[in-house]
Amino acid sequence: MKATIAVLEGDGIGPEIMAEGLKVLDAIAARYNHEFEYIRCAFGAAAYFAEGSACPDETREICDEADTIIKGPVGLAVREMDRIPIEERPELAVLEMRERYTTFANYRPAKLPASLANFSPLRKERLGEGIDILMIRELTGDVYFGKKREGKDTGMQFAQDDCVYTEEQIRRVATTAFEEASSRNVPLTNIDKANVLATSRFWRAVVEEIASSFPEVPLQHVLVDNAAYQLVIDPTQFNGVMLLGNMNGDILSDQAGGIIGSLGLMPSACVGPEKVFVEPVHGAAPDIAGTGQANPYSMIGSAALMLEKGLGLDEESNLIWDCLFSVFEQGYVTAELAAAVKQGTVLSTSEFGDRVVSAIQAA
Ligand code: IPM
Ligand code: MN
Repeated sequence: MKATIAVLEGDGIGPEIMAEGLKVLDAIAARYNHEFEYIRCAFGAAAYFAEGSACPDETREICDEADTIIKGPVGLAVREMDRIPIEERPELAVLEMRERYTTFANYRPAKLPASLANFSPLRKERLGEGIDILMIRELTGDVYFGKKREGKDTGMQFAQDDCVYTEEQIRRVATTAFEEASSRNVPLTNIDKANVLATSRFWRAVVEEIASSFPEVPLQHVLVDNAAYQLVIDPTQFNGVMLLGNMNGDILSDQAGGIIGSLGLMPSACVGPEKVFVEPVHGAAPDIAGTGQANPYSMIGSAALMLEKGLGLDEESNLIWDCLFSVFEQGYVTAELAAAVKQGTVLSTSEFGDRVVSAIQAA
């Protein structure tokens, strides 16, 4: 297959983990006779300082034209971020991209096989057969996209972010979550705050209605505060698909990263009707940029998700996942995991990518 891929390296560790993602894509292209054309474009805080926009027009045009998009994290050190006006912040450029391509379903898989249980800060006994939770986070609504107001009312200063969900927004992401649960033959856990929020009650009602078309999928509802607790006490009870609104998904997916040992193990895919872009869940970690300590797993995993969701290359995607785990299973670790694991050989960012490539070539 021939595909054009827009490459947005982002800030901080973005360029170095992107290099590993592309290295792995090249190995896949060589093995399966694909032709991937990368078109690099500016995006993020550095792009703002260089070109006056976190997402320059040219980047937008390239992304519009590309078959799919791979993106690194954005953001620099606080003192630099403070020099960017609120309306120009790179986080907003990320939200704009999600809106532009209506990527309503954000796949955030949290996987930790039992063989790698020592990555987790939780005791081994709590991890049973291993963690395999596919978080599906809604990505186009909630407080992130509601009306914002700041001002003074009867002398009192206030700020307001409206939380809004339309039926269509809930319906499409819930349908996606049920379809995934059905095809994987796993249960679905819906997360909300229906005991307090009107948007959550509506969310749950729509989820219930869609559930009637998927009688084969076991469904449970868990309130978000309790889910945060249960995730730590007994994470494997959520093995399967977890459906979350935008904010709940933002928060609990970071927690999932903590539970499996590192946010560096959390890739993601933003999936919409006509475009898929992938990005790691974590930030740009400017403090370790350029030191070779960044874990490229999240970016390589994102590349695997891009092949599956963006280009329909399931076999290639599965091979990347197998090779990613095989590197860890051979006893190698990345820098941020070394302290917890206390054994194994620590690999630099590029050494980890090289090992994944060798595994692809040897498979
Ligand atoms: C994430 C990030 C983003 C979000 C930021 C960068 C806008 O935290 O992808 O989880 O809040 O969704
Ligand atoms: Mn986040």
